Amino acid sequence: NTGALWGGRFADGPAAAMAALSKSTHFDWVLAPFDIEASRAHARVLNRAGLLTDDDLTAMLAGLDALAADVADCTFGPAESDEDVHGALERGLIEKVGTELGGRLRAGRSRNDQVATLFRMWLRAAYRRVAAGVLDVAQALVDQAQAHPDVAMPGKTHLQAAQPVLLSHQLLAHVHPLLRDLERIADADRRTAVSPYGSGALAGSSLGLDPAAIAADLGFDGPMANSIDATSSRDFAAEAAWVFAMIVVDLSRLAEEVIAWSTPEFGYVTLADAWSTGSSIMPQKKNPDVAELTRGKSGRLIGNLTGLLATLKAQPLAYNRDLQEDKEPVFDSVAQLDLLLPAIAGMVGTLTFHADRMAQLAPAGFTLATDIAEWLVRRGVPFRVAHEAAGACVRAAEAAGVGLDELDDETLAAIDPALTGEVREVLTVRGSIESRNAHGGTASTAVATQLAGVQSDLATH
Ligand code: ARG
Repeated sequence: NTGALWGGRFADGPAAAMAALSKSTHFDWVLAPFDIEASRAHARVLNRAGLLTDDDLTAMLAGLDALAADVADCTFGPAESDEDVHGALERGLIEKVGTELGGRLRAGRSRNDQVATLFRMWLRAAYRRVAAGVLDVAQALVDQAQAHPDVAMPGKTHLQAAQPVLLSHQLLAHVHPLLRDLERIADADRRTAVSPYGSGALAGSSLGLDPAAIAADLGFDGPMANSIDATSSRDFAAEAAWVFAMIVVDLSRLAEEVIAWSTPEFGYVTLADAWSTGSSIMPQKKNPDVAELTRGKSGRLIGNLTGLLATLKAQPLAYNRDLQEDKEPVFDSVAQLDLLLPAIAGMVGTLTFHADRMAQLAPAGFTLATDIAEWLVRRGVPFRVAHEAAGACVRAAEAAGVGLDELDDETLAAIDPALTGEVREVLTVRGSIESRNAHGGTASTAVATQLAGVQSDLATH
């Protein structure tokens, strides 16, 4: 016997390079608290199945508590000889309660059902943490929207001036994807909340253990229905990697705007000192690093997803050691979000918006041309004709070097007899914005309704 969990049929221990390849304690140690919690629950089902006396259960639980305390204060950790967290913790338990009792806990479970269960437990805790971080970013955006109810800015398509919108409308446009991400987390958590424990290596348990009892004990909604599926499927992990990638992709769009808006060319925002960095050579620089790292890390999280999918592809049922590769990408995506989300919330919450600059640029690039066309439509002109006339107004204003509201009556009448000086009433940024008052539009009344809806949505998470 080589001392490994599986040593019985081996005369020799693993070669050094074999052991090095096999080892996972450097990343799966984060599962240790969950492993111990699940071991407590497993000890209780062994007791109920008559495989552990009441006294043994008491001693076992005391040993697990002592081990948990040692893990928490780092006085117990993985040893060079440990292959994975599960083997290390069995070693630790035996140090506490002796070989006789410590060796009983493994009955009826396998590292295959164990690791699948612990990964799900870890992920459910991570979902709660990530959701709280996403909520903080959404709240920071909502607070900024609420603090700037009347600021107009250029709305863009193709990054070209399109139509004036309210800044609050634009900021809330970044909140809705985050609200959907929160729904995605809640939905994915529901599929993750099913316990593989009791599936053994792949075929289930012969020892009369109760998978439903242990599932309930560990806070799962119930046990998985098929022990082969339970030990070998990782779609829950791929779904998590996707949800995490989607969150950072959503945030990368906000990041891209903050990067552009903070340039002198845009001049819409100034970043707080605490949430930006300087240059080691150019003294004038103030760089939007939070936003750039958000944009950059989105590539990393997409990579974690695609790498995991490639690992899962075409694996035969049931467990294969390939599956040991499932955890690092998901752990990494969460570690990046743990770093990013508080920084993004801090950056957003401390942005200073330059309302005058945004208002000044709101009509630039003839963004009120659509308002001329729609004014003509309200007077019975077919949109096709109206669009043509508004385009001619843009051409005339561009040639004369004036704004649309500065075209004189004769020029207007020459373009289309229906165009009178009254059209100037809609040729203001405020008039344009307030006219778009249908549900979901940028008028201040519509945005106020939207904001109330967003706030009540946020309150449910
Ligand atoms: N460390 C493994 C994993 O992460 C679990 C161990 C299963 N090993 C085995 N030989 N069946 O998937």
